[in-house]
Amino acid sequence: MTSFGGPSFSLSEEHEMIRQTARDFAQKEIAPIAAEFDETGDFPYETIKKMGEMGFMGIEVPEEYGGAGMDTLAYVLALEEISKVDASHGVIMSVNNSLFNYGILRFGTETQKKDFITPVASGQAIGAYSLTEPMSGSDAGTMRSRAVRDGDDYVINGRKSWVTSGPVADSVVVFSMTEPEAGHRGVTAFLIDTNKEGFIRSKKEPKLGIRASATCELLFEDYRCPIEHRLGEEGAGFKIAMTVLDDGRIGIASQALGIAEASYEASLEYVREREAFGKKIGQFQGISFQLADMKTRIEASRLLIYQAALAKEKSKVSGNRFTLESAMAKLFASETAMFCAHAAVQIHGGMGYSKEMPIERYFRDAKITEIYEGTSEIQRLVISRLETGLR
Ligand code: CAA
Repeated sequence: MTSFGGPSFSLSEEHEMIRQTARDFAQKEIAPIAAEFDETGDFPYETIKKMGEMGFMGIEVPEEYGGAGMDTLAYVLALEEISKVDASHGVIMSVNNSLFNYGILRFGTETQKKDFITPVASGQAIGAYSLTEPMSGSDAGTMRSRAVRDGDDYVINGRKSWVTSGPVADSVVVFSMTEPEAGHRGVTAFLIDTNKEGFIRSKKEPKLGIRASATCELLFEDYRCPIEHRLGEEGAGFKIAMTVLDDGRIGIASQALGIAEASYEASLEYVREREAFGKKIGQFQGISFQLADMKTRIEASRLLIYQAALAKEKSKVSGNRFTLESAMAKLFASETAMFCAHAAVQIHGGMGYSKEMPIERYFRDAKITEIYEGTSEIQRLVISRLETGLR
């Protein structure tokens, strides 16, 4: 069970170890290639496979399904370290752990867990999650894709969009309408084998940031999904999607924290060295106060993320939702990432804008954390509805 080992918030030996392992891996294996993969937009198969072999793609998955059998705090610590070096590797890791594994662990049958989680958690395969459609983003319950029961299969037709890891995924958790007149209660979740007929990877999304993570549209043309690959009950898909996003948002918050820290640490180093008007630029209050705000927001984000991780850990026993904690962590950490990356570019001046340094990449990567897995506006809506009880 997660704990901070006393009132000092110190981490346990096991947690320190996973953090250090992730930090070392990121420095040794990812740092040398991050800029190149950002430039080309190629998918970093080799490092992703290695991360899988090290257990990073199934941190909370029990060992019997190929995972590392650790807790949520271990997950957020490792994800922060990976994202600090490269947010693209971070989101690929987050999607495998949260959007793919977590949903199947929570709602899947024994056979589904064995068949779908094990290859992803052990680094042999890549998973994805597909909720969004061209005409439904924030209003996720209004999808147009259809899944029609035909004997022992569902026949799926439609177009899904903005699927992280869609171009490379072996399996995808897909949400589609089985009963359109029932609204969100007509959504059902399915486990899709991407090698089967009727599954088509379509337009690749050209993106501002996280360019080494692959994103595309998916087309379903009479794809036949056997009933044993339905995830949960018919009509339970929307709640499954929301439950899974509660976990996903903790992952994205950790990714955002990593970007914020990278921006902050680069700025700290720069202001201690760079001179202007006869002083180190960190001696000017206009700069130093920005660093004070960056540091404070980073530490506040970290505490919100740890709180959300603890709430999720408790939910494994109580079954209670951790929607509020994860939405607050995601909202604050993503806005902190944007705040810090923006400040870092400004502090570095021309060098912040140059591709010779990673600062402009942090800036481009930070923006998506305020958009995917629920925009900042959706997080505010979720938090305020839960607090006021009004809608
Ligand atoms: N857990 C469990 N159940 C939940 C839930 C949660 N967190 N949130 C809502 N529900 C349930 C409600 O209790 C309700 O249940 P009933 O049917 O029993 O009444 C049902 O779901 C509908 O809830 P709402 O009435 O609140 O639904 P809504 O239509 O008002 O929408 C929303 C709520 C919060 C706006 C939701 O649509 C939402 O989160 N939108 C954002 C979607 C999103 O985050 N998309 C990201 C796509 S994935 C992605 O980005 C992946 C990637 O690339 C990395």
